[in-house]
Amino acid sequence: MIGRVHKAGRAFFGVLRRPMARAFDSAQNPLNHLGALTVFFLWIVLISGIWLLIFFRTSVSGAFESVEYLTREQWYLGGIMRSLHRYASDAAIVTILLHIIKEFVFDRYRRNRWFSWVTGVPLVWMMFILGITGYWLVWDELAQYVAITSAELMDSIPIFTDSMAGNFLSDDLLSNRFFTLMAFLHLIGLPIFLVFGIWFHLFRLNGPRINPPRRMMAASLLTMLLLSAVYPAISHEQANLAMTPQSLRLDWFYLHVYPLIQIWSPGWVWVFLVGISTVIVIAPWAPAKKKDDPALVTLDFCNGCERCVDDCPFGAVEMVPRTDETNYSHQASVDSDLCISCGICVGACPTATPFRSRGTLLPGIDLPDRTAATLRDEIIAAGSKDISPRVIVFACRDDPQLNEIEAAGIGLVKVNCMGQLPPSYVDFTLSRGHAHGVLLLGCQDGNCLYRFGAEWTEQRLARQRDPMLRRRVDMSRVAIGWQAPWSDKSNALKKYEAFVRSLQS
Ligand code: HEM
Ligand code: SF4
Ligand code: SF4
Repeated sequence: MIGRVHKAGRAFFGVLRRPMARAFDSAQNPLNHLGALTVFFLWIVLISGIWLLIFFRTSVSGAFESVEYLTREQWYLGGIMRSLHRYASDAAIVTILLHIIKEFVFDRYRRNRWFSWVTGVPLVWMMFILGITGYWLVWDELAQYVAITSAELMDSIPIFTDSMAGNFLSDDLLSNRFFTLMAFLHLIGLPIFLVFGIWFHLFRLNGPRINPPRRMMAASLLTMLLLSAVYPAISHEQANLAMTPQSLRLDWFYLHVYPLIQIWSPGWVWVFLVGISTVIVIAPWAPAKKKDDPALVTLDFCNGCERCVDDCPFGAVEMVPRTDETNYSHQASVDSDLCISCGICVGACPTATPFRSRGTLLPGIDLPDRTAATLRDEIIAAGSKDISPRVIVFACRDDPQLNEIEAAGIGLVKVNCMGQLPPSYVDFTLSRGHAHGVLLLGCQDGNCLYRFGAEWTEQRLARQRDPMLRRRVDMSRVAIGWQAPWSDKSNALKKYEAFVRSLQS
């Protein structure tokens, strides 16, 4: 069942991908930066919010007038800031939604990722409460509708003794104190919780990407500025509790639940909201595929260089004082609860070298289910095919392009993640004559199941990151063919054939 939902979600991303891939390269594709884009939009919300705060008056009578002043009198700055505040908030909801769907359908929410997943759920609640209290503060007819409907929703919870809806019976009963409380929640309380919540959400990730590429930030800011100038955010008529607003322009990004409150009873809306949140929270514990064994440190070969600590995307390795009699002061230690067996630490370890001639190939850190020694044996086996030019393909086991290569009987070595492949294996394959060329296939940067596989492989091959590929390797004999995991059709064979032709020329 979950597998089918994942498949449908991947197909959905496939549909989104086509126009995006035509417009952007992979580094600039917004679908590859959804979490970071959300952070960026929240920055815009915060900065524009500070400007609004300077002029905002937190009283029932002053609120509407101060927002009107910003919108009409100070349209060139206050009005633009108000519109930016609105559009960036809406954009953040879209990117959060896509971020959740993407993490889910590409299976990036289970095992040790449960932490980021579960801590994301309160962030969504906070975002919606922020949006709702924001609409409330304008104190126009939409605010009146939001306030009264929210009060009905809150009054349906039996823990409150005083009726909240009672505050909105008439303009006289509506107190400035109640209004100031809303303002405090929206302007100070919730933003502080949100910042803390985002920090907590990213707490367990090594090097989380919180900034989208600069060009993407500039383009999205410019688009929102244009939108703000052409289609500025404006208020409805001032709230009047003696009248019921007749026609409202709802913001469907934030207020889509409100019509439901009128169709269903408030109690059922609570059941719906709490039910969805609970299902999302418990999703990481649904039955999953068998777990691979975590990475294992062999002290005899660990020299304490710390590269595995730097490269583990999930903070699963730490350096601890040495427990054996060597001269090194520290050794690597893996937290098996945090490790998701991607093998990126093996790709980082300087002792994972296939050139070792004596004894078994046992690096300082290795994956028991897919050892460095097995990879070397498979290279040697794949290199025995009598074809010229002979190309060995290294591919991530999750790569959608794999089937095509396997079906064509091309020499293939699978790795858990491309980051598991130490560059010395590429050198070994070529310099020992096991192949004339090496083709690496995996998920495009921004879509790597293990976050950094594609990026760090490129950096290691370009000799920008340790361990670096040796200079003697002729780069015309190495090709990379990343592909987005939601691509509808594989063109791995085409990449293979193009590479073979380039080797022949
Ligand atoms: C204000 C809302 C949110 C913001 C700003 C945000 C931002 C981010 C960022 C910047 C990352 C790091 C991406 C990377 O470096 O690979 C991330 C990771 C993640 N987020 Fe969110 N997120 C939000 C809400 C959510 C929600 C609602 C969920 C799910 C219910 C969620 C699930 C995850 C997961 C599972 C990861 C870990 C991905 C991995 O390990 O590869 N996030 N988020
Ligand atoms: S990268 Fe290898 S040698 Fe370096 S600390 Fe980690 S396990 Fe030890
Ligand atoms: S296998 Fe992956 S998650 Fe586990 S320790 Fe190595 S790099 Fe970290």
